[in-house]
Amino acid sequence: MTRIGTPLSPSATRVMLLGSGELGKEVIIALQRLGVEVIAVDRYPNAPGHQVAHRFHAINMADPKTLRELVERERPALIVPEIEAIATDELARIEADGLAEVIPTARATQLTMNREGIRRLAAEELGVSTSRYAFAESLQELQAAIDAGIGYPCIVKPVMSSSGKGQSTIEGPADVQTAWDYAKSGGRVDRGRVIVEEMIQFDYEITLLTVRALNEKGVVETYFCDPIGHRQVKGDYVESWQPQPMNMSALQESQDIARAVTGSLGGRGLFGVELFVKGEQVWFSEVSPRPHDTGMVTMTTQWQNEFELHARAILGLPVSTELRNPGASAVIYGQLEEKGIAFENVDAAMRVPRTELRLFGKPESFTRRRMGVALAYGEDIHECRDRAKRAAALVKPVKG
Ligand SMILES: Nc1ncnc2c1ncn2[C@@H]1O[C@H](COP(=O)(O)OP(=O)(O)OP(=O)(O)O)[C@@H](O)[C@H]1O
Ligand SMILES: [Mg+2]
Repeated sequence: MTRIGTPLSPSATRVMLLGSGELGKEVIIALQRLGVEVIAVDRYPNAPGHQVAHRFHAINMADPKTLRELVERERPALIVPEIEAIATDELARIEADGLAEVIPTARATQLTMNREGIRRLAAEELGVSTSRYAFAESLQELQAAIDAGIGYPCIVKPVMSSSGKGQSTIEGPADVQTAWDYAKSGGRVDRGRVIVEEMIQFDYEITLLTVRALNEKGVVETYFCDPIGHRQVKGDYVESWQPQPMNMSALQESQDIARAVTGSLGGRGLFGVELFVKGEQVWFSEVSPRPHDTGMVTMTTQWQNEFELHARAILGLPVSTELRNPGASAVIYGQLEEKGIAFENVDAAMRVPRTELRLFGKPESFTRRRMGVALAYGEDIHECRDRAKRAAALVKPVKG
């Protein structure tokens, strides 16, 4: 039975977001609409989610002591991580001490912040099909792993990284050294440990948004959104669309994998399960125990978008993953290295029929920083993709 109090009063239902970027901002808006008191935390002030929360804090979330102190001061009922770079061992202690509930579980945040944890769980414990992989801590180990069976082409990634940072493709022996150096420089914590994966020659890749929410009996049930297709450039998503047309047995297999992996991570909330598909074959790649960037398309395609689904699921409320209409999203990049930039031509972009824009309000722009997204809805995904890209291209970042 879910009870929601009055914000800023003793009865308040308090939720703390750890990470308040564009995805956190939308989760906060969904929570605000339900009368939840929201505390937004990020490493820098005026992050997108800070701008729509009741209160905000700028702290180093990777520091266990700082994190603990803030949780003790704010006493949220729920802690909702939006990023991976958090002191997850401290989250486990906070959960064990009964101080707050971690979404979906502290263990899920621990396992997914390191590629090794989630890959070994999926492939070795759950027996889910993945690319061939190995871990290496030196150039020599990397070369040995490739020679021992991973082969060429392959992909090297720091075990702790996201958004394609430190990630590169090795076409042949001449690239191994460069890939190793790049991975060492691009990881989050320089432990110099990498995963090397066989390159899967997939037909397409999807994000299967999977929700673990309570049903009318008060029991956690697994719900699936329609598959989202997407295109990645340098490990970062540039456009996505929903629904991705799929062979029925590949879809069934995808759902089976997603149910197994999210079931093992446990808890309540929305997960972004990343899968590669070739014909009827499906490989698990990785999972976010939280809304997924490619899922921003659901802001224009679903009755309850991924952020609303997450908000509802974590509060113990019922969910509907029903698709409303097909649609697409296209990313708007900063293109400038400046603080306080402006966006020109927003009107022209919005004149593209059946489109919407989201500008995230990030205080500082970088060339490849995601500053906004264009959304298009319609009947046909190809046509939606064209319009979303057209609208995104019309928005012009300029000096403020
Ligand atoms: N083994 C692989 N075979 C083929 N393509 C791959 C493989 N691993 C990664 N890729 C490609 O690189 C993209 C990014 O990889 P991955 O999701 O592992 O990195 P990431 O840094 O976690 O990215 P993000 O945080 O944006 O999800 C994938 O979506 C896929 O397009
Ligand atoms: Mg990914």
